[in-house]
Amino acid sequence: MNFDALKPKVTTLISNSSVINDTLLSICELLKETVSYYDWVGFYFRDGNTETLKLGPYAGAPTDHTTIPFGKGICGQVAVSNQNFVVPDVNAQDNYISCSINVKSEIVIPLFVDGENIGQIDIDSNTTDPFSEADERFLEFVCQSIATLL
Ligand code: SME
Repeated sequence: MNFDALKPKVTTLISNSSVINDTLLSICELLKETVSYYDWVGFYFRDGNTETLKLGPYAGAPTDHTTIPFGKGICGQVAVSNQNFVVPDVNAQDNYISCSINVKSEIVIPLFVDGENIGQIDIDSNTTDPFSEADERFLEFVCQSIATLL
């Protein structure tokens, strides 16, 4: 995937942003439509009061997992670790929340605002082991760009 060609499109969406959730949805749709192995793209945001993640805008099949406790699943672990989490094969993970039997792999990148983990971008793939460091660097760029709006 040529992420260098995709970055300016993300930047344009952010530059033209007026309603944050509309912009986040557009980013989800752009990524899902452009990257062949991105089959579900969504955002979760931290709710510190309930120590849960709440589902935000997403592109792809609806999910039952609109609230995820900190520590549960791949997403909940990233809420605690503040680290990227790349899962080449979800079947090899014990602490994993399945949204669909079609999903084979997942990547979650935390979103920091002023050094604080406030949420994350979560991507599911129906392909096994599709993610490389290029995905991590690109998705870090996406999260850093979004942080300028928050
Ligand atoms: N698989 C995630 C749950 C969220 S869905 O992928 C949309 C997890 O284990 O945290």
